[in-house]
Amino acid sequence: MKSFSAFSARLQPWLSQRRVLLFGSVVGLAVVAISCATANRLVVAPPQIPGATYVGSKECVDCHEKITKEFITADHARLQAPGKNALAAGCESCHGPGSKHVESGGALNTILNPRKNADTCFACHLDKRGQFSLPHSHPVLAGKVSCTDCHDPHRGAGFAGGQSLLTRDDTCIKCHAAQRGPFAFEHEAMRDGCATCHNPHGTVNAKMLTARNANLCLKCHVQDANSSVLIGGMPHSALLRQGTCWTAGCHEAVHGSQINSTLRY
Ligand code: HEC
Ligand code: HEC
Ligand code: HEC
Ligand code: HEC
Ligand code: HEC
Ligand code: HEC
Ligand code: HEC
Repeated sequence: MKSFSAFSARLQPWLSQRRVLLFGSVVGLAVVAISCATANRLVVAPPQIPGATYVGSKECVDCHEKITKEFITADHARLQAPGKNALAAGCESCHGPGSKHVESGGALNTILNPRKNADTCFACHLDKRGQFSLPHSHPVLAGKVSCTDCHDPHRGAGFAGGQSLLTRDDTCIKCHAAQRGPFAFEHEAMRDGCATCHNPHGTVNAKMLTARNANLCLKCHVQDANSSVLIGGMPHSALLRQGTCWTAGCHEAVHGSQINSTLRY
C-alpha cells in the first residue's frame, strides 16, 4: 500500500497540470476522468509484483542502456518523477516494481513484460479496453495483435516507426500489404493516412470504418452529395442513397486502382 500512495502522489500533481489540456481533447485519458471524479484520489492501481518494491528508473540504466537513453524522447517519460528516489513512474509504471529483478541481476520472471497482456496499458488508458471490445476491432484482447505492433512504448510520440503519418502507415502496411500500392490511380485520401477512414482500435462499423455510410466520403467529396451527373441514366446523388460509395460496382477500389481513375475494379 505504501508504494501505491507514493505512486499516486507522484502522478497526481502531473495530472493536475495536464488536466485542462487533456480534458477537452479526444485524448481524454481515463485516469484524468477518474481523478476528477474522485477529487484527490487516483484510482489507477500500478502493476504489482509480489514481494518487490519500486527502485526507480536509474537502476535500469546499467543493463538496459539503449532503452533508457531513448526513453527520454518518449511521451511516457514525462511520467518519470525526477530525482534519485523516483518511484513507480517511469520504467516501473509499465514493468512493475523492479527490486527483485535488479537484485537477481535480471532474472526474467521477476519483471513484467506487457507485450502479451494489455492490462498494463488499460490501467491508465481505460477507454482503450472499450474500443478493443467493439464488434470490429483489432484482436488485441485475443492476444493476436499487441499494442506494441503499432506503438513504441520506449521512444517518441508512441507510434512505432516514428510520428509522421507516412511512417505511421508503414506500421499498418507491414501487416496489410494489399493496401500498400503503388497504384496506377492513387486515391489522394491515402496521403492523409489510414486513420482518416479507419479507427485502428475499433469501431461499431464493419472494417473499423469511422462512418458506416456515404458520410465517410462526403466529408471530403461534399460536392458529390448533390451532383446531378448521370451515371447509367441515374443522377449520382440518387445512387448515393442506394448503398455505400464502395458497394460492388461503385468505387470498390477505395484504396487505389490499377485500372480505373474513378477507383473501380
Ligand atoms: C543487473 C542488470 C539488470 C538490471 C539492473 C535491470 N535489468 Fe532488466 N534484464 C536484465 C537481463 C540480463 C534481462 C534478460 C535479457 C534476456 O534474456 O533477453 C532483462 C530483462 C528485462 C525485461 C524483459 C523481461 C521479459 O520477460 O521479457 C524487462 C521488461 C526488463 N528487464 C526491465 C527492467 C527494468 C524496468 C529495470 C529497472 C527497474 C531493469 N530491467 C533492470 C538485466 C537487468
Ligand atoms: C508505456 C509502458 C512502458 C514503459 C514506460 C517502459 N516500457 Fe519497457 N516495454 C514495454 C512493452 C509493452 C514491452 C514489450 C515490447 C514488445 O512488444 O516487444 C517492453 C519491453 C521491454 C524490455 C524487453 C524487450 C526489449 O525490447 O529488450 C526491456 C528490457 C524494457 N522494456 C525496459 C524498459 C526500461 C528500462 C524502461 C524505462 C527506461 C521501460 N522499459 C519503460 C512497455 C513499457
Ligand atoms: C502510468 C500510466 C500509463 C501507463 C501504464 C501507460 N500509459 Fe500511455 N500514456 C499515459 C499518459 C498520461 C499519456 C499522455 C502523455 C502526454 O500527453 O504527453 C500517455 C500517452 C500514450 C500514447 C501517445 C498518445 C499521444 O498523443 O502521443 C500512446 C500511444 C500510449 N500512451 C500507449 C500506451 C501503451 C501501449 C501502454 C502499455 C504498454 C501504455 N500507454 C501504458 C499514461 C500511461
Ligand atoms: C493496429 C494498430 C494499433 C493498435 C494495435 C493499437 N493502436 Fe493505439 N493508435 C493507433 C493509431 C494509428 C493511432 C492514431 C490515431 C489517429 O491518428 O487518429 C493510435 C492512437 C492511440 C492513442 C492516442 C490517441 C487516443 O486515441 O487516445 C493512445 C493513447 C493509444 N493509441 C493507445 C493504445 C493502446 C493502449 C493499445 C493497446 C491496448 C493500442 N493503442 C493499440 C494504432 C494502434
Ligand atoms: C501486427 C499486424 C497488424 C498491424 C500492424 C495492423 N493490423 Fe489491421 N489487422 C490485423 C489482423 C490480425 C486483423 C484481423 C483480421 C481478421 O480478423 O481476419 C486486422 C484487421 C484489420 C481491418 C479489418 C479487416 C476486415 O476484413 O475486417 C482493418 C480495416 C485494419 N486491420 C486496418 C489496419 C490499420 C489502419 C492499421 C494501422 C494503423 C493496421 N490495421 C495495423 C493485423 C494487423
Ligand atoms: C478513403 C478512406 C480510406 C482510407 C484512407 C483507407 N481505407 Fe481501408 N477501407 C476503406 C473502406 C471504405 C473499406 C471497406 C471496403 C469494402 O468493404 O469493400 C476499407 C477496407 C480495408 C481493409 C479490409 C480489406 C478487405 O478486403 O476487406 C483493410 C485491411 C484496410 N482497409 C486497410 C487500410 C490501410 C492499411 C490503410 C492505409 C494505408 C487504409 N485502409 C486507408 C476506406 C479507407
Ligand atoms: C481525406 C479526404 C478524402 C476522403 C475521406 C475521401 N476522399 Fe476521395 N479523393 C480525395 C481527393 C483529394 C481526391 C483527388 C481530387 C478529386 O478528384 O477530388 C479524391 C479522389 C477520389 C476519386 C476519383 C475522382 C475522379 O474523378 O478522379 C474517387 C472515385 C473517390 N475519391 C472516392 C472516394 C470514396 C468512395 C471515399 C469514401 C470511402 C472517399 N473518396 C473519401 C479525398 C478524399
